[in-house]
Amino acid sequence: MQLKDNTFLITGAASGLGAATAERIVAAGGRVMVCDLNDSVVAHAESLGESARACRGDVTSAVDMQAAVDAAVALGGEKGMAGVVHCAGVVSVAKLVDREGNPADLDAYARTVQINLVGTFNVMRLAAAAMAGNAPGEDGERGVIINTASVAAFDGQVGQCAYSASKAGVVGMSLPAARELSRHGIRVMAIAPGVFQTPMMSEIPDEAAKALAASVPFPKRLGKPDEFARLAEQIIGNPMLNGEVIRLDGGIRMQ
Ligand SMILES: NC(=O)c1ccc[n+]([C@@H]2O[C@H](COP(=O)([O-])OP(=O)(O)OC[C@H]3O[C@@H](n4cnc5c(N)ncnc54)[C@H](O)[C@@H]3O)[C@@H](O)[C@H]2O)c1
Repeated sequence: MQLKDNTFLITGAASGLGAATAERIVAAGGRVMVCDLNDSVVAHAESLGESARACRGDVTSAVDMQAAVDAAVALGGEKGMAGVVHCAGVVSVAKLVDREGNPADLDAYARTVQINLVGTFNVMRLAAAAMAGNAPGEDGERGVIINTASVAAFDGQVGQCAYSASKAGVVGMSLPAARELSRHGIRVMAIAPGVFQTPMMSEIPDEAAKALAASVPFPKRLGKPDEFARLAEQIIGNPMLNGEVIRLDGGIRMQ
């Protein structure tokens, strides 16, 4: 699947990894429908020029995401939508039992799972249904889906029950989704980032962020959003990448 002259839906595109992926795809000659809950996605689309359009939407809403997929298909013209890079997500930290002995808030747990896991399924099902109708390209390929997990899916830290579970769910869906969608010529991949320099990281205290950066074997720094975008570009372009989760983490194993 080439980026040039193809159209991709990018969720979570107002910020961080999604915003960088949209920039890279446009720089490579592709078109993007950038979608986010945050209104600033409109300004980001404008900064990307004629090849980008924006839509505001919540990834947990069936109506919003159907509208986003429809808009991406329309932007793609005759070729429709070639792929989705799903980056929308939230981080959350809560202990099962806090210092005062209170149990964790159940609604907060469910909210994280709803956005990160159910939202991923929502985007994936609607994008797959749209792309299944595409004309087949080389090898019969009709589309590609890239989801965003996290290394927390594998080595979650204290306080990450909700976040780790939601991302482990994203990891768990990769293979069954890839197997099922193979008959439509649609690939499914996930990227599991380590620690990246995005606005999401600003929710973590400075000291903790420094400690995380220092614990990366090499390079000893946080990842740059464009390094995520470069992997997304490679996945889109390489048809043998399918049904797999790629850690992009400088070798970090969180403790
Ligand atoms: N930054 C990191 O270190 C890191 C590490 C591992 C995984 N990730 C994952 O990467 C993805 C992108 O994170 P980021 O670092 O770019 O964060 P970010 O906060 O910069 O961007 C996330 C975007 O998702 C949007 N969003 C949140 N909830 C939404 C919803 N319900 N509907 C639509 N949009 C919504 C936000 O408005 C925001 O623009 C997330 O899934 C995150 O869990 C990030």
